[in-house]
Amino acid sequence: MADVLHLPGVVHMSDAEFGQYQQLVEQLIGIHLAPIKKAMLSGRLARRIRERGCASYAEYFKLIDGNGDAQERQIAIDLITTNETYFFREPKHFDALRDTLFPSLRGRPVRVWSAACSSGEEPYSLAMIMADVLGADAPWDVLASDISMRMLSTARRALYPMERAHHVPPQYLKRFCLRGTAEYSGYFLLEKALRERVSTVQVNLANTLPEMGKFDLIMLRNVIIYFDAHLKRRVIQAVSEKLKPGGWLVVGHSESLIGHTPDLIPVAPTIYRKVSA
Ligand SMILES: C[S@@+](CC[C@H](N)C(=O)[O-])C[C@H]1O[C@@H](n2cnc3c(N)ncnc32)[C@H](O)[C@@H]1O
Repeated sequence: MADVLHLPGVVHMSDAEFGQYQQLVEQLIGIHLAPIKKAMLSGRLARRIRERGCASYAEYFKLIDGNGDAQERQIAIDLITTNETYFFREPKHFDALRDTLFPSLRGRPVRVWSAACSSGEEPYSLAMIMADVLGADAPWDVLASDISMRMLSTARRALYPMERAHHVPPQYLKRFCLRGTAEYSGYFLLEKALRERVSTVQVNLANTLPEMGKFDLIMLRNVIIYFDAHLKRRVIQAVSEKLKPGGWLVVGHSESLIGHTPDLIPVAPTIYRKVSA
């Protein structure tokens, strides 16, 4: 059978080129690409490489490395990151927030950070629960951050195809979402009052974190899984420093913080609480 990567007009990524990208991606965003990811990486960049008229992955690499262009680098990052998410993903977390965590915070200002928010489904799921449990007029807000500018722009828009409403509880869909009409038919929009509670900002978790104040709850879900052990430890430490004493840190169901920081005590599977200041 012919090797599809060698068909005429299809640019092939050599192992040496993959090595270059591997290093750059790890250095820029901390994501460790195992050799098995070569086909995924070359596939995700293939179209852009054609658009830019590059004859090889090495030629495109020059557009995004240290001497390249910051805008093109961001486009490459947007293409390389895995952004899978959906509303109320890993529902047990949201059950715990609705039934235990948020009720315990009633009556005071509450700050939440969705630290790898992708296209916004996670921060808006949080906002719906907060409006419900804490009250639509109570002082609370959600900071949504990601490395991908393309994802942040989708999050800011807050307009989603109707199929994405599948996991939104019907009562929340009715209360917080507007059905699109005319050219927006088939879409729904998060209502303005909710959108205004969610602000977006680019944060690279692999870098020193910016000044952003302290949070009652940080969602760090399905992102540290892409980091190597050293970076994972550094990110967990840096993120936990952004928690108020007694604040909660939630990671994805396939992620664990066991042995990472003595400040964080497990209170439920993948939910941790900060004990000290
Ligand atoms: C699989 S999504 C997880 C989305 C959401 N937290 C969830 O659990 O559904 C992972 C997100 O992490 C972001 N990401 C990857 N590396 C990052 C980094 N170094 N800093 C910040 N975000 C990063 C990606 O852009 C992507 O949107």
